[in-house]
Amino acid sequence: MSRTIVVTGGATGIGRAVAERFVAGGDEVVITGRRPAVLEKAAADLRVRAVVCDGTHPAQVERLVAELPARIDVLVNNAGGNTDFAQADPDGDLGRLKQNWLANLEANVLTAVLTTTALAPRLADGGAVIHLGSIAAAKGAGSYGASKAALATFNLDVAAELGPRGITSNVVAPGFTAETEYFQGLLSDSRRETLLQATLTKREGVPIDIAETVWFLASPGARHLTAQVLHVNGGALATR
Ligand SMILES: NC(=O)c1ccc[n+]([C@@H]2O[C@H](COP(=O)([O-])OP(=O)(O)OC[C@H]3O[C@@H](n4cnc5c(N)ncnc54)[C@H](OP(=O)(O)O)[C@@H]3O)[C@@H](O)[C@H]2O)c1
Repeated sequence: MSRTIVVTGGATGIGRAVAERFVAGGDEVVITGRRPAVLEKAAADLRVRAVVCDGTHPAQVERLVAELPARIDVLVNNAGGNTDFAQADPDGDLGRLKQNWLANLEANVLTAVLTTTALAPRLADGGAVIHLGSIAAAKGAGSYGASKAALATFNLDVAAELGPRGITSNVVAPGFTAETEYFQGLLSDSRRETLLQATLTKREGVPIDIAETVWFLASPGARHLTAQVLHVNGGALATR
């Protein structure tokens, strides 16, 4: 039976690869994002449905829910990114510092909190919720890392709440992943080389690396795997 998958921020980068992976597996996919033209192009390319939705806006998330089928099998909370790339350095201004922190918390935590809360009643028993975290949650990176760490804590509540219905909830935490809009053109060659050299595999991550892990977490083989953070980073962060 074909499942229904919702991928927030599914028009570009990792979200797009996730959408593509589920389509390849025979599932129906709905992608969201804020830019209508980008979203429509991706939807046409991937042959998926698109709904314009800024996941930080409660009213837009409510409108998204109204557009979706009664049963959702998998929710992928992928929308997010480091909003600091587009912000001026606060340079000691506490007001600006606060705005910058709130922007990252909104983009990376509230998108997942609002969407998960709104869709929880529609999630099918035995389904899956997957949040896109980051290696930054374990390494720092200011408000971005802190927001991804908060997302991982939110994941624990989702796993506990939905677990009795057989629904799993996990975080997939990528390391540096190329071929996305994440860096907004601001990644220097030397920083890129440093990130590559930090891996044990000596190669850059690409969106399909992440998409395969997301797909596995929603598969029959992963029904006892929940409340975890799965790092996908070529060994740039080692765990034990
Ligand atoms: N690439 C990396 O190295 C890396 C590493 C660790 C974690 N991650 C995480 O992986 C996820 C995917 O990022 P990516 O690397 O694939 O970058 P990306 O290409 O910039 O993708 C992010 C997507 O999210 C959408 N989005 C952002 N804010 C949104 C909002 N408020 N509501 C709805 N959609 C929103 C964007 O589309 P619109 O702008 O049109 O809304 C975009 O399609 C993010 O959560 C990111 O933090 C990425």
